[in-house]
Amino acid sequence: MVNETEDTHVPQGPATATQPRISFLRRYGVACLIMLLTLGGFCVLSVGWIVIHGVSARDTPTVLEETMARALRHLAVPTKERRRVNPVPPTTEALAEGMAHWADHCASCHGNDGRGHTEMGRNMYPKAPDMTLQKTQGLSDGELYAIIKNGVRLTGMPAWGSPGSAEDPQTWKLVLFIRHLRNMTPKELDQMKGMNPVSPMAREEQREADDFLNGIDAPEPSTPSHNPSHTGTSRKENP
Ligand code: HEC
Repeated sequence: MVNETEDTHVPQGPATATQPRISFLRRYGVACLIMLLTLGGFCVLSVGWIVIHGVSARDTPTVLEETMARALRHLAVPTKERRRVNPVPPTTEALAEGMAHWADHCASCHGNDGRGHTEMGRNMYPKAPDMTLQKTQGLSDGELYAIIKNGVRLTGMPAWGSPGSAEDPQTWKLVLFIRHLRNMTPKELDQMKGMNPVSPMAREEQREADDFLNGIDAPEPSTPSHNPSHTGTSRKENP
């Protein structure tokens, strides 16, 4: 009596080896097919979208693109690095150095105020972000440091400072400055204008404009300068 019920559950003969495989296919085969079709459809749609819309950098990335790119960038920074706290104390000198460095190297895309309202920053794909917003301010010190030091692939954000794992105090000072962006004063913004790099052509134009305003009506012919100064010294003076 007892054996009768047990027998019905014992797999019989050669079916023992193939049965699990069949049941796996039955159970997951349809799901795998749906996944493959979805993936294929997604690829076709993406290619179609690019072909129709072109590859202009003027567009703004979709929310999906931005979310995925930021999530991947986040995951690409190891947790240990992400947890690092800025080792440079926020002294006036350190902040001033960070500010000068920013004005010289970063402001062309990010703007002196970090809002990205520059010709380059606005016309990139992705755009230079408004760094006063929580999206940036919510990143840890370590993540900001890693982004500055390594840059961000497939965006306009270059890698800065020395390569490798050597500690980079200048980069930490830039992190200090990014934390200060929300509290920038008009006086500081004015100071930074004097530190932004100026091309020889822009300097010449400024000189001609100054001469005109000062009543010097026969400006000397422009001689091209061979000193592409990036130090921000000898700059436009107000009439
Ligand atoms: C040629 C343009 C360009 C220059 C110059 C530049 N950046 Fe960027 N930066 C970008 C772009 C574009 C992004 C957006 C990248 C992204 O979406 O992942 C970015 C992103 C960042 C971010 C991440 C902010 C966030 O919320 O995603 C930080 C931090 C940053 N830059 C710091 C700097 C610093 C510091 C400098 C100067 C040493 C600098 N950048 C110079 C273009 C530039």
